[in-house]
Amino acid sequence: MCKGSNAHFWIKLDLCTALEAIADSLPSLVDRAQCLWMAETLLPALQMAHAFEEDVVYPAFCKEAAFRVEGQRTLARLRVEHVEDEALAEEISERLFFIGHGAGVENPEALGFMLRTFFRSVRRHVAFEREHVLPLAGGWPMPNLQPGQPGGPGSEQ
Ligand SMILES: [Fe+2]
Repeated sequence: MCKGSNAHFWIKLDLCTALEAIADSLPSLVDRAQCLWMAETLLPALQMAHAFEEDVVYPAFCKEAAFRVEGQRTLARLRVEHVEDEALAEEISERLFFIGHGAGVENPEALGFMLRTFFRSVRRHVAFEREHVLPLAGGWPMPNLQPGQPGGPGSEQ
């Protein structure tokens, strides 16, 4: 596996940060352009990251996992979480699309809850994969590095 292969984690975590900002801005401070961007970006970016994991990372994990039966169960659960996250991302995108085009935020508490449920789930999923899957898949544990730091996104380490 190539050494830049945890970039998809950063993409997902950046999306979570942006969604948290939207959730915090509801209802009166919401940035409609940001909602529209997120509506167009969230699901395709998530699907791309999931495809990379399922096509590249998970097979490498299976090959190296010491306990293959347990590893298969783990991957099955992670794949289900991908499906659940994509379904929720689709619903979020639809709501943000309408807000981005000028619709009112009719139930900010419910939308905020939906956004928080999503990004908390994605963050837990990423944390599990980076701690338990990526090290066995030929990657490396991803420390809490920021862009530009050695070993962080954008560095050549
Ligand atoms: Fe995943």
